[in-house]
Amino acid sequence: MNRLPIDLKNADLFKQEAFINGQWTKGTEKKTFPVYNPFNKMIIAEVSDLQVSDLDHAVQAANIAFPTWAKLTSYERSSILTKWHNLIIENERDLATILTLEQGKPFQEALGEIRYGATFIDWFSAEAVRVYGDIIPSPDANKRISVIKQPIGVVVAITPWNFPNAMITRKIAPALAAGCTVLVKPAEDTPLSALALAVLAKKAGIPKGVLNILPTSKPVIAGDFFCAHKNIQKISFTGSTKTGKYLMEKGAATLKKLSLELGGNAPFIVFDDADVDAAVKGAILSKYRNAGQTCVCTNRFLIHANILDAFNEKLALEVNKMKVGDGFLDDTQIGPLINEAAIKKVNFLLNDAIEKGAKIFYSKNTSVDITVISPIILTQVTPDMALSKEEIFGPISAITSFSTEEEAIYIANNTEFGLASYIYTKDNARIHRVTEALQYGMVGVNTGIISYAAVPFGGIKESGFGREGSKYGIDEFQILKYICTDIS
Ligand code: SIN
Repeated sequence: MNRLPIDLKNADLFKQEAFINGQWTKGTEKKTFPVYNPFNKMIIAEVSDLQVSDLDHAVQAANIAFPTWAKLTSYERSSILTKWHNLIIENERDLATILTLEQGKPFQEALGEIRYGATFIDWFSAEAVRVYGDIIPSPDANKRISVIKQPIGVVVAITPWNFPNAMITRKIAPALAAGCTVLVKPAEDTPLSALALAVLAKKAGIPKGVLNILPTSKPVIAGDFFCAHKNIQKISFTGSTKTGKYLMEKGAATLKKLSLELGGNAPFIVFDDADVDAAVKGAILSKYRNAGQTCVCTNRFLIHANILDAFNEKLALEVNKMKVGDGFLDDTQIGPLINEAAIKKVNFLLNDAIEKGAKIFYSKNTSVDITVISPIILTQVTPDMALSKEEIFGPISAITSFSTEEEAIYIANNTEFGLASYIYTKDNARIHRVTEALQYGMVGVNTGIISYAAVPFGGIKESGFGREGSKYGIDEFQILKYICTDIS
Protein backbone atom coordinates (compact mmCIF):
# COMPACT_ATOMS: atom_id res chain seq x y z
CA MET A 1 0.00 0.00 0.00
CA ASN A 2 1.72 3.17 -1.20
CA ARG A 3 0.83 6.73 -0.49
CA LEU A 4 0.90 8.77 -3.68
CA PRO A 5 2.89 12.01 -3.64
CA ILE A 6 0.69 15.10 -3.47
CA ASP A 7 3.33 17.54 -4.68
CA LEU A 8 2.27 19.17 -7.92
CA LYS A 9 4.60 19.26 -10.91
CA ASN A 10 2.93 22.49 -11.94
CA ALA A 11 2.34 24.36 -8.68
CA ASP A 12 0.70 27.24 -10.61
CA LEU A 13 -2.40 25.08 -10.87
CA PHE A 14 -3.10 25.46 -7.17
CA LYS A 15 -4.95 28.79 -7.13
CA GLN A 16 -6.88 30.22 -4.23
CA GLU A 17 -8.02 33.49 -5.80
CA ALA A 18 -11.05 34.03 -7.99
CA PHE A 19 -10.69 34.46 -11.76
CA ILE A 20 -12.50 37.46 -13.24
CA ASN A 21 -11.88 39.14 -16.58
CA GLY A 22 -8.68 37.20 -17.12
CA GLN A 23 -7.19 38.29 -13.77
CA TRP A 24 -6.70 36.53 -10.43
CA THR A 25 -8.42 38.51 -7.72
CA LYS A 26 -9.07 38.36 -3.99
CA GLY A 27 -12.36 40.23 -4.48
CA THR A 28 -13.31 43.61 -3.09
CA GLU A 29 -13.51 42.55 0.55
CA LYS A 30 -10.53 40.17 0.43
CA LYS A 31 -12.44 37.61 2.50
CA THR A 32 -11.74 33.88 2.25
CA PHE A 33 -13.41 30.59 3.12
CA PRO A 34 -11.66 27.34 4.00
CA VAL A 35 -11.54 24.27 1.78
CA TYR A 36 -11.02 20.93 3.54
CA ASN A 37 -9.57 17.59 2.65
CA PRO A 38 -12.73 15.52 3.30
CA PHE A 39 -10.69 12.51 4.44
CA ASN A 40 -8.74 14.10 7.30
CA LYS A 41 -10.64 17.40 7.69
CA MET A 42 -7.42 19.42 7.35
CA ILE A 43 -7.75 22.84 5.75
CA ILE A 44 -6.02 22.69 2.38
CA ALA A 45 -6.78 26.17 1.07
CA GLU A 46 -8.32 29.52 1.91
CA VAL A 47 -10.19 30.54 -1.19
CA SER A 48 -11.35 34.06 -2.05
CA ASP A 49 -14.94 34.55 -0.98
CA LEU A 50 -16.62 36.78 -3.54
CA GLN A 51 -19.33 39.28 -2.69
CA VAL A 52 -22.21 40.40 -4.87
CA SER A 53 -20.22 43.43 -6.12
CA ASP A 54 -17.53 41.01 -7.42
CA LEU A 55 -20.15 38.86 -9.12
CA ASP A 56 -21.50 41.98 -10.76
CA HIS A 57 -18.01 42.88 -11.97
CA ALA A 58 -17.76 39.39 -13.50
CA VAL A 59 -21.13 39.73 -15.27
CA GLN A 60 -19.98 43.03 -16.77
CA ALA A 61 -16.73 41.43 -17.94
CA ALA A 62 -18.58 38.49 -19.51
CA ASN A 63 -21.07 40.84 -21.12
CA ILE A 64 -18.32 42.99 -22.65
CA ALA A 65 -16.41 39.92 -23.87
CA PHE A 66 -19.50 38.30 -25.39
CA PRO A 67 -19.79 40.06 -28.81
CA THR A 68 -16.12 39.53 -29.67
CA TRP A 69 -16.12 35.85 -28.60
CA ALA A 70 -19.40 35.25 -30.41
CA LYS A 71 -18.03 36.83 -33.61
CA LEU A 72 -15.00 34.56 -33.82
CA THR A 73 -15.48 31.85 -36.38
CA SER A 74 -16.46 28.53 -34.88
CA TYR A 75 -13.12 27.21 -36.20
CA GLU A 76 -11.28 29.79 -34.09
CA ARG A 77 -13.24 28.87 -30.96
CA SER A 78 -12.75 25.20 -31.74
CA SER A 79 -9.01 25.60 -32.00
CA ILE A 80 -8.79 27.36 -28.60
CA LEU A 81 -10.89 24.59 -27.01
CA THR A 82 -8.56 21.98 -28.51
CA LYS A 83 -5.55 23.73 -26.97
CA TRP A 84 -7.32 23.79 -23.61
CA HIS A 85 -8.13 20.07 -23.90
CA ASN A 86 -4.50 19.25 -24.67
CA LEU A 87 -3.23 21.27 -21.71
CA ILE A 88 -5.65 19.46 -19.41
CA ILE A 89 -4.36 16.10 -20.60
CA GLU A 90 -0.74 17.28 -20.19
CA ASN A 91 -1.52 18.27 -16.59
CA GLU A 92 -3.89 15.42 -15.79
CA ARG A 93 -1.99 14.03 -12.81
CA ASP A 94 -1.75 17.40 -11.11
CA LEU A 95 -5.43 18.08 -11.77
CA ALA A 96 -6.32 14.65 -10.37
CA THR A 97 -4.21 15.33 -7.28
CA ILE A 98 -6.06 18.59 -6.62
CA LEU A 99 -9.35 16.78 -7.20
CA THR A 100 -8.59 13.99 -4.72
CA LEU A 101 -7.31 16.52 -2.22
CA GLU A 102 -10.54 18.52 -2.16
CA GLN A 103 -13.11 15.87 -3.06
CA GLY A 104 -11.66 12.68 -1.61
CA LYS A 105 -12.29 10.23 -4.46
CA PRO A 106 -9.49 7.71 -5.05
CA PHE A 107 -6.69 9.10 -7.19
CA GLN A 108 -7.27 6.69 -10.11
CA GLU A 109 -10.92 7.64 -10.14
CA ALA A 110 -9.96 11.31 -10.03
CA LEU A 111 -7.68 10.74 -13.00
CA GLY A 112 -10.63 9.07 -14.74
CA GLU A 113 -12.73 12.15 -14.02
CA ILE A 114 -10.09 14.50 -15.47
CA ARG A 115 -10.02 12.42 -18.67
CA TYR A 116 -13.81 12.17 -18.74
CA GLY A 117 -14.03 15.96 -18.19
CA ALA A 118 -11.58 16.58 -21.02
CA THR A 119 -13.70 14.51 -23.44
CA PHE A 120 -16.44 17.17 -23.21
CA ILE A 121 -13.99 19.84 -24.38
CA ASP A 122 -12.75 17.58 -27.16
CA TRP A 123 -16.29 16.69 -28.20
CA PHE A 124 -17.59 20.28 -28.25
CA SER A 125 -14.49 21.64 -29.98
CA ALA A 126 -15.60 19.34 -32.81
CA GLU A 127 -19.30 20.18 -32.46
CA ALA A 128 -18.53 23.93 -32.63
CA VAL A 129 -18.01 23.65 -36.38
CA ARG A 130 -21.13 21.52 -36.92
CA VAL A 131 -23.80 23.99 -35.92
CA TYR A 132 -26.14 24.03 -38.89
CA GLY A 133 -29.15 26.20 -39.60
CA ASP A 134 -32.03 25.49 -41.99
CA ILE A 135 -33.46 26.74 -45.24
CA ILE A 136 -37.23 26.30 -45.14
CA PRO A 137 -39.33 26.06 -48.32
CA SER A 138 -41.29 29.29 -48.43
CA PRO A 139 -45.11 29.38 -48.69
CA ASP A 140 -44.73 32.75 -50.46
CA ALA A 141 -42.96 32.85 -53.85
CA ASN A 142 -41.45 36.23 -53.01
CA LYS A 143 -39.97 35.25 -49.71
CA ARG A 144 -36.98 33.25 -48.59
CA ILE A 145 -36.91 31.67 -45.17
CA SER A 146 -33.87 30.66 -43.19
CA VAL A 147 -33.09 29.72 -39.61
CA ILE A 148 -29.77 30.45 -37.94
CA LYS A 149 -28.43 29.46 -34.53
CA GLN A 150 -26.72 32.05 -32.35
CA PRO A 151 -25.15 31.96 -28.89
CA ILE A 152 -27.65 32.75 -26.15
CA GLY A 153 -25.35 35.22 -24.33
CA VAL A 154 -23.84 35.24 -20.86
CA VAL A 155 -24.24 31.86 -19.14
CA VAL A 156 -23.92 30.87 -15.50
CA ALA A 157 -22.83 27.32 -14.61
CA ILE A 158 -23.58 26.31 -11.03
CA THR A 159 -21.70 23.09 -10.44
CA PRO A 160 -21.65 20.33 -7.80
CA TRP A 161 -18.90 18.97 -5.55
CA ASN A 162 -19.19 15.33 -6.66
CA PHE A 163 -17.50 15.96 -10.03
CA PRO A 164 -15.54 19.20 -9.49
CA ASN A 165 -13.96 18.98 -12.94
CA ALA A 166 -16.26 17.08 -15.30
CA MET A 167 -19.52 18.80 -14.39
CA ILE A 168 -17.82 22.10 -15.22
CA THR A 169 -16.41 21.04 -18.57
CA ARG A 170 -19.71 19.33 -19.48
CA LYS A 171 -21.46 22.70 -19.12
CA ILE A 172 -18.90 25.21 -20.28
CA ALA A 173 -17.42 23.40 -23.27
CA PRO A 174 -20.72 23.55 -25.22
CA ALA A 175 -21.36 27.11 -24.00
CA LEU A 176 -17.94 28.32 -25.18
CA ALA A 177 -18.20 26.35 -28.42
CA ALA A 178 -21.54 28.04 -29.14
CA GLY A 179 -20.00 31.49 -28.58
CA CYS A 180 -21.34 32.22 -25.09
CA THR A 181 -19.30 33.73 -22.28
CA VAL A 182 -19.43 31.96 -18.94
CA LEU A 183 -19.48 32.49 -15.19
CA VAL A 184 -18.84 29.38 -13.11
CA LYS A 185 -19.99 29.23 -9.50
CA PRO A 186 -18.19 26.11 -8.23
CA ALA A 187 -19.39 24.21 -5.17
CA GLU A 188 -18.04 25.64 -1.89
CA ASP A 189 -16.52 22.25 -0.98
CA THR A 190 -14.53 21.94 -4.22
CA PRO A 191 -13.53 25.25 -5.86
CA LEU A 192 -9.86 24.33 -6.46
CA SER A 193 -10.42 22.11 -9.49
CA ALA A 194 -12.43 24.89 -11.14
CA LEU A 195 -9.66 27.42 -10.51
CA ALA A 196 -7.05 25.01 -11.87
CA LEU A 197 -9.10 24.65 -15.05
CA ALA A 198 -9.04 28.44 -15.42
CA VAL A 199 -5.22 28.51 -15.24
CA LEU A 200 -5.12 26.23 -18.28
CA ALA A 201 -7.96 28.05 -20.04
CA LYS A 202 -5.97 31.29 -19.85
CA LYS A 203 -2.87 29.52 -21.14
CA ALA A 204 -4.90 28.05 -24.01
CA GLY A 205 -5.87 31.56 -25.12
CA ILE A 206 -9.44 31.86 -23.86
CA PRO A 207 -9.75 35.67 -23.90
CA LYS A 208 -10.37 37.78 -20.81
CA GLY A 209 -13.95 37.89 -19.61
CA VAL A 210 -14.95 34.77 -21.59
CA LEU A 211 -14.51 32.41 -18.63
CA ASN A 212 -14.82 33.58 -15.03
CA ILE A 213 -14.60 31.39 -11.91
CA LEU A 214 -16.47 32.78 -8.94
CA PRO A 215 -15.97 31.02 -5.62
CA THR A 216 -18.28 32.21 -2.87
CA SER A 217 -19.47 30.84 0.45
CA LYS A 218 -22.92 32.37 -0.14
CA PRO A 219 -24.56 30.20 -2.79
CA VAL A 220 -28.11 31.38 -2.10
CA ILE A 221 -27.21 35.06 -2.41
CA ALA A 222 -25.24 34.29 -5.56
CA GLY A 223 -28.14 32.26 -7.00
CA ASP A 224 -30.59 35.08 -6.29
CA PHE A 225 -28.23 37.57 -7.91
CA PHE A 226 -27.76 35.45 -11.06
CA CYS A 227 -31.49 34.78 -11.38
CA ALA A 228 -32.35 38.48 -11.14
CA HIS A 229 -29.60 39.78 -13.44
CA LYS A 230 -30.89 40.95 -16.81
CA ASN A 231 -27.54 40.46 -18.56
CA ILE A 232 -27.44 36.75 -17.73
CA GLN A 233 -29.39 34.77 -20.30
CA LYS A 234 -29.05 31.24 -19.07
CA ILE A 235 -28.31 29.20 -15.96
CA SER A 236 -27.15 25.61 -16.16
CA PHE A 237 -27.34 23.90 -12.78
CA THR A 238 -26.42 20.47 -11.47
CA GLY A 239 -27.47 19.68 -7.92
CA SER A 240 -30.48 18.93 -5.78
CA THR A 241 -34.08 19.03 -6.98
CA LYS A 242 -34.87 21.42 -4.12
CA THR A 243 -32.30 23.96 -5.33
CA GLY A 244 -33.34 23.44 -8.96
CA LYS A 245 -36.92 24.36 -8.05
CA TYR A 246 -35.66 27.39 -6.13
CA LEU A 247 -33.69 28.62 -9.15
CA MET A 248 -36.70 28.09 -11.39
CA GLU A 249 -38.89 30.11 -9.08
CA LYS A 250 -36.35 32.92 -8.75
CA GLY A 251 -35.44 32.82 -12.44
CA ALA A 252 -39.08 33.31 -13.43
CA ALA A 253 -38.76 37.05 -12.73
CA THR A 254 -36.38 37.45 -15.69
CA LEU A 255 -37.63 34.36 -17.59
CA LYS A 256 -34.18 32.83 -17.28
CA LYS A 257 -33.53 29.92 -19.60
CA LEU A 258 -32.55 26.94 -17.45
CA SER A 259 -30.97 23.53 -17.76
CA LEU A 260 -31.45 21.50 -14.60
CA GLU A 261 -29.63 18.24 -13.92
CA LEU A 262 -31.15 17.26 -10.59
CA GLY A 263 -31.50 14.32 -8.24
CA GLY A 264 -32.11 10.72 -9.25
CA ASN A 265 -33.43 7.53 -7.70
CA ALA A 266 -31.96 4.99 -10.09
CA PRO A 267 -33.44 1.48 -10.13
CA PHE A 268 -31.14 -1.40 -11.10
CA ILE A 269 -33.38 -4.25 -12.23
CA VAL A 270 -31.96 -7.75 -12.60
CA PHE A 271 -34.32 -10.27 -14.27
CA ASP A 272 -33.98 -13.98 -13.65
CA ASP A 273 -32.68 -14.60 -17.19
CA ALA A 274 -29.73 -12.25 -16.60
CA ASP A 275 -26.06 -13.14 -16.29
CA VAL A 276 -25.80 -12.66 -12.52
CA ASP A 277 -22.01 -12.28 -12.54
CA ALA A 278 -22.24 -9.52 -15.14
CA ALA A 279 -25.02 -7.88 -13.14
CA VAL A 280 -22.88 -7.88 -10.00
CA LYS A 281 -19.98 -6.36 -11.94
CA GLY A 282 -22.29 -3.63 -13.25
CA ALA A 283 -23.78 -3.15 -9.79
CA ILE A 284 -20.37 -2.47 -8.27
CA LEU A 285 -19.58 0.12 -10.94
CA SER A 286 -22.92 1.80 -10.77
CA LYS A 287 -23.32 1.78 -6.99
CA TYR A 288 -19.83 2.47 -5.64
CA ARG A 289 -18.41 4.98 -8.11
CA ASN A 290 -17.39 8.04 -6.10
CA ALA A 291 -18.44 6.29 -2.86
CA GLY A 292 -22.02 6.26 -4.13
CA GLN A 293 -22.06 10.03 -4.59
CA THR A 294 -23.29 10.43 -8.16
CA CYS A 295 -26.75 11.31 -9.45
CA VAL A 296 -26.71 8.17 -11.60
CA CYS A 297 -25.59 5.78 -8.85
CA THR A 298 -27.97 2.90 -8.27
CA ASN A 299 -30.34 3.84 -5.47
CA ARG A 300 -32.64 0.79 -5.52
CA PHE A 301 -31.65 -2.74 -6.51
CA LEU A 302 -34.70 -4.66 -7.77
CA ILE A 303 -33.73 -8.32 -8.04
CA HIS A 304 -35.94 -11.13 -9.33
CA ALA A 305 -36.86 -13.47 -6.43
CA ASN A 306 -35.43 -16.53 -8.27
CA ILE A 307 -31.89 -15.10 -8.28
CA LEU A 308 -32.03 -12.98 -5.13
CA ASP A 309 -29.82 -15.19 -2.98
CA ALA A 310 -27.22 -15.70 -5.71
CA PHE A 311 -27.10 -11.96 -6.45
CA ASN A 312 -26.80 -10.95 -2.78
CA GLU A 313 -24.04 -13.45 -2.07
CA LYS A 314 -22.00 -12.56 -5.14
CA LEU A 315 -22.43 -8.84 -4.46
CA ALA A 316 -21.27 -9.29 -0.86
CA LEU A 317 -18.19 -11.21 -2.06
CA GLU A 318 -17.22 -8.34 -4.36
CA VAL A 319 -18.04 -5.59 -1.85
CA ASN A 320 -15.92 -7.38 0.73
CA LYS A 321 -12.87 -6.86 -1.51
CA MET A 322 -13.29 -3.08 -1.60
CA LYS A 323 -10.92 -0.96 0.46
CA VAL A 324 -12.19 2.24 2.00
CA GLY A 325 -10.07 5.17 3.11
CA ASP A 326 -7.70 7.85 1.95
CA GLY A 327 -7.96 8.49 -1.80
CA PHE A 328 -4.20 8.93 -1.96
CA LEU A 329 -3.57 5.30 -0.95
CA ASP A 330 -3.20 3.34 -4.13
CA ASP A 331 -5.47 0.46 -3.08
CA THR A 332 -8.41 2.62 -1.95
CA GLN A 333 -11.61 2.10 -3.95
CA ILE A 334 -14.02 4.03 -1.74
CA GLY A 335 -13.00 7.43 -0.42
CA PRO A 336 -14.62 9.62 2.22
CA LEU A 337 -18.03 11.22 1.95
CA ILE A 338 -17.77 14.90 1.18
CA ASN A 339 -18.65 16.42 4.56
CA GLU A 340 -20.37 15.94 7.89
CA ALA A 341 -23.83 16.72 6.54
CA ALA A 342 -23.41 13.92 3.98
CA ILE A 343 -22.34 11.45 6.65
CA LYS A 344 -25.28 12.41 8.87
CA LYS A 345 -27.70 11.99 5.98
CA VAL A 346 -26.40 8.50 5.10
CA ASN A 347 -26.55 7.45 8.75
CA PHE A 348 -30.10 8.75 8.99
CA LEU A 349 -31.15 6.77 5.89
CA LEU A 350 -29.50 3.64 7.25
CA ASN A 351 -31.13 3.87 10.68
CA ASP A 352 -34.51 4.69 9.20
CA ALA A 353 -34.35 1.64 6.93
CA ILE A 354 -33.33 -0.67 9.79
CA GLU A 355 -36.07 0.70 12.05
CA LYS A 356 -38.59 0.00 9.30
CA GLY A 357 -37.49 -3.62 8.87
CA ALA A 358 -34.51 -3.70 6.46
CA LYS A 359 -31.95 -6.40 7.26
CA ILE A 360 -28.18 -5.93 7.16
CA PHE A 361 -27.01 -8.62 4.75
CA TYR A 362 -23.39 -7.42 4.68
CA SER A 363 -21.42 -4.91 6.69
CA LYS A 364 -17.75 -4.82 7.53
CA ASN A 365 -16.87 -2.24 10.06
CA THR A 366 -13.55 -1.22 8.63
CA SER A 367 -14.11 2.51 8.87
CA VAL A 368 -10.72 4.06 9.32
CA ASP A 369 -12.09 7.46 10.09
CA ILE A 370 -15.48 8.94 10.82
CA THR A 371 -15.42 10.54 7.35
CA VAL A 372 -15.47 7.19 5.58
CA ILE A 373 -18.46 4.85 5.48
CA SER A 374 -17.80 1.20 4.72
CA PRO A 375 -20.13 -0.41 2.21
CA ILE A 376 -23.29 -1.96 3.57
CA ILE A 377 -25.81 -4.22 1.85
CA LEU A 378 -29.41 -4.02 3.07
CA THR A 379 -32.10 -6.48 2.05
CA GLN A 380 -35.89 -6.51 2.52
CA VAL A 381 -35.98 -2.84 1.63
CA THR A 382 -39.54 -1.49 1.22
CA PRO A 383 -40.95 1.61 -0.52
CA ASP A 384 -41.86 3.35 2.76
CA MET A 385 -38.19 3.63 3.77
CA ALA A 386 -36.60 7.03 3.19
CA LEU A 387 -33.76 5.50 1.14
CA SER A 388 -36.31 4.17 -1.36
CA LYS A 389 -37.50 7.72 -1.98
CA GLU A 390 -34.37 9.85 -1.62
CA GLU A 391 -30.90 9.74 -3.11
CA ILE A 392 -28.66 7.75 -0.78
CA PHE A 393 -25.40 9.37 -1.97
CA GLY A 394 -23.35 6.85 -0.02
CA PRO A 395 -22.10 3.25 -0.28
CA ILE A 396 -25.29 1.50 0.83
CA SER A 397 -26.89 -1.07 -1.46
CA ALA A 398 -30.64 -1.25 -0.86
CA ILE A 399 -32.13 -4.48 -2.21
CA THR A 400 -35.76 -5.39 -2.91
CA SER A 401 -37.10 -8.42 -4.76
CA PHE A 402 -39.83 -8.70 -7.37
CA SER A 403 -41.64 -11.52 -9.16
CA THR A 404 -42.96 -10.17 -12.47
CA GLU A 405 -41.82 -7.75 -15.15
CA GLU A 406 -44.88 -5.55 -14.52
CA GLU A 407 -44.09 -5.37 -10.83
CA ALA A 408 -40.46 -4.39 -11.53
CA ILE A 409 -41.56 -1.63 -13.90
CA TYR A 410 -44.15 -0.38 -11.41
CA ILE A 411 -41.63 -0.20 -8.53
CA ALA A 412 -38.98 1.40 -10.76
CA ASN A 413 -41.35 4.12 -11.96
CA ASN A 414 -42.90 4.74 -8.55
CA THR A 415 -40.79 7.82 -7.82
CA GLU A 416 -40.90 11.49 -8.73
CA PHE A 417 -37.39 11.18 -10.18
CA GLY A 418 -36.43 10.07 -13.69
CA LEU A 419 -32.70 10.33 -14.33
CA ALA A 420 -30.83 7.01 -14.80
CA SER A 421 -32.06 3.42 -14.67
CA TYR A 422 -30.46 0.05 -15.38
CA ILE A 423 -31.72 -3.36 -16.45
CA TYR A 424 -30.02 -6.72 -16.77
CA THR A 425 -31.63 -9.36 -18.98
CA LYS A 426 -30.69 -11.57 -21.93
CA ASP A 427 -34.17 -11.39 -23.45
CA ASN A 428 -34.14 -9.09 -26.47
CA ALA A 429 -37.90 -8.50 -26.55
CA ARG A 430 -37.84 -7.68 -22.84
CA ILE A 431 -35.08 -5.13 -23.43
CA HIS A 432 -37.39 -3.23 -25.79
CA ARG A 433 -40.50 -3.58 -23.61
CA VAL A 434 -38.80 -2.50 -20.38
CA THR A 435 -36.59 0.30 -21.72
CA GLU A 436 -39.66 1.83 -23.38
CA ALA A 437 -41.74 1.50 -20.21
CA LEU A 438 -39.16 3.02 -17.85
CA GLN A 439 -39.88 6.69 -17.13
CA TYR A 440 -36.25 7.79 -17.16
CA GLY A 441 -34.03 9.98 -19.32
CA MET A 442 -31.38 7.25 -19.50
CA VAL A 443 -31.41 3.45 -19.41
CA GLY A 444 -28.36 1.22 -19.17
CA VAL A 445 -28.96 -2.28 -20.57
CA ASN A 446 -26.54 -4.89 -19.23
CA THR A 447 -24.16 -2.13 -18.17
CA GLY A 448 -23.66 -0.04 -15.06
CA ILE A 449 -21.78 2.75 -16.81
CA ILE A 450 -23.64 5.09 -19.17
CA SER A 451 -21.81 8.44 -19.04
CA TYR A 452 -19.90 9.64 -22.09
CA ALA A 453 -19.42 12.98 -23.85
CA ALA A 454 -21.20 11.60 -26.94
CA VAL A 455 -24.51 10.86 -25.17
CA PRO A 456 -27.40 13.12 -24.11
CA PHE A 457 -27.16 13.05 -20.32
CA GLY A 458 -30.26 14.25 -18.50
CA GLY A 459 -33.49 13.41 -16.80
CA ILE A 460 -37.25 13.76 -16.88
CA LYS A 461 -39.87 14.39 -14.18
CA GLU A 462 -38.28 15.98 -11.08
CA SER A 463 -34.80 15.02 -12.23
CA GLY A 464 -34.91 18.14 -14.37
CA PHE A 465 -34.65 19.02 -18.04
CA GLY A 466 -32.07 19.86 -20.66
CA ARG A 467 -29.40 17.57 -22.02
CA GLU A 468 -25.63 17.71 -21.54
CA GLY A 469 -23.11 16.18 -23.91
CA SER A 470 -23.88 14.77 -27.39
CA LYS A 471 -24.99 16.64 -30.49
CA TYR A 472 -27.94 17.98 -28.45
CA GLY A 473 -25.81 19.55 -25.69
CA ILE A 474 -24.89 22.66 -27.66
CA ASP A 475 -28.58 23.47 -28.37
CA GLU A 476 -28.97 24.46 -24.72
CA PHE A 477 -26.68 27.45 -25.31
CA GLN A 478 -28.14 28.69 -28.58
CA ILE A 479 -31.15 30.58 -29.76
CA LEU A 480 -32.94 29.87 -33.01
CA LYS A 481 -33.44 32.93 -35.18
CA TYR A 482 -35.84 32.75 -38.10
CA ILE A 483 -35.19 35.18 -40.96
CA CYS A 484 -37.84 35.99 -43.55
CA THR A 485 -36.58 37.95 -46.59
CA ASP A 486 -38.84 39.57 -49.15
CA ILE A 487 -37.04 39.35 -52.51
CA SER A 488 -39.75 40.94 -54.68
C1 SIN B 1 -23.66 13.36 -11.76
O1 SIN B 1 -23.59 12.72 -10.73
O2 SIN B 1 -24.33 14.40 -11.81
C2 SIN B 1 -22.94 13.01 -13.02
C3 SIN B 1 -22.45 11.65 -13.08
C4 SIN B 1 -21.88 11.28 -14.42
O3 SIN B 1 -21.54 12.13 -15.26
O4 SIN B 1 -21.80 10.09 -14.65
